[in-house]
Amino acid sequence: MGQNAFRAEGIDTSRPHPARIYDYLLDGKDNYEVDQLAGDQLAAAAPEVRIGVRANRAFLQRAVRYVVGSGVRQILDVGTGLPTSPNVHETAQEVAPDVRIAYVDNDPIVNAHANALLNRSAETSIVLADLRDPRSIVDHPDVRRVIDFDEPVALLLVAILHFITDAEKPERVVETLREALPAGSFLVLSHATADFADRSEAQAVYAKATATLNLRSRARVERFFDGFELIEPGLAQVPFWRPDSPPPAGSETIGFFGGVARKTG
Ligand SMILES: C[S@@+](CC[C@H](N)C(=O)[O-])C[C@H]1O[C@@H](n2cnc3c(N)ncnc32)[C@H](O)[C@@H]1O
Repeated sequence: MGQNAFRAEGIDTSRPHPARIYDYLLDGKDNYEVDQLAGDQLAAAAPEVRIGVRANRAFLQRAVRYVVGSGVRQILDVGTGLPTSPNVHETAQEVAPDVRIAYVDNDPIVNAHANALLNRSAETSIVLADLRDPRSIVDHPDVRRVIDFDEPVALLLVAILHFITDAEKPERVVETLREALPAGSFLVLSHATADFADRSEAQAVYAKATATLNLRSRARVERFFDGFELIEPGLAQVPFWRPDSPPPAGSETIGFFGGVARKTG
């Protein structure tokens, strides 16, 4: 744990947490032995995972610059993760300083770190809520404090939906959120897949974690964009979504799809 780390009291260190495994894979400091072990097992099962998480993070930044560059001034980031520089508000506010952001995550450690480290202001809110209960997000007073659902919103579901099982009806979750968004809003989404390699061993690592890993095919991931229009190049492996520098070596093996779409009607 790093210098700014949240106090360990009350934090579950008996099981790996997705946010902390991801932080470890990104060389962050806000993770525990149990997360490091899971991260190492994941890297052994899926050797591209370290370049994959970086490519996912880079996709997130390009997508945020794209949506803010398109005029959107409100971001609802569900599945924020532990603070990782640059954070979404930093990337967004570099393009337009007046962007407002609601960060949502269901992991109390993310909430605690975000509260401690992020610039909390009239433009930013940090909310503890669960994507599996999407109405609790759109109705949350701290979300409503910064997000006006009568104006276009960029909804970020980046590397989160694969933590929702089919039984939890992820398509319906996205549909509920889509219905809350006015025309002109965007969906920024990435999702893990086994389309490029057998990843059953990677899935097995998450069996011990606080959320399971639910890998989905291109066709399944595309269904999350129902009711939106994908912008060019459509759904792509994250390094190939509007790259602004040459994709890293091994990019074609990365098991993350990403896409950005606009709600037109
Ligand atoms: C892999 S991290 C992704 C972080 C960031 N979006 C990114 O792509 O860089 C996934 C995050 O989703 C959160 N998460 C997982 N299941 C969730 C749920 N049901 N509701 C809200 N957040 C969830 C985890 O706590 C974690 O912080």
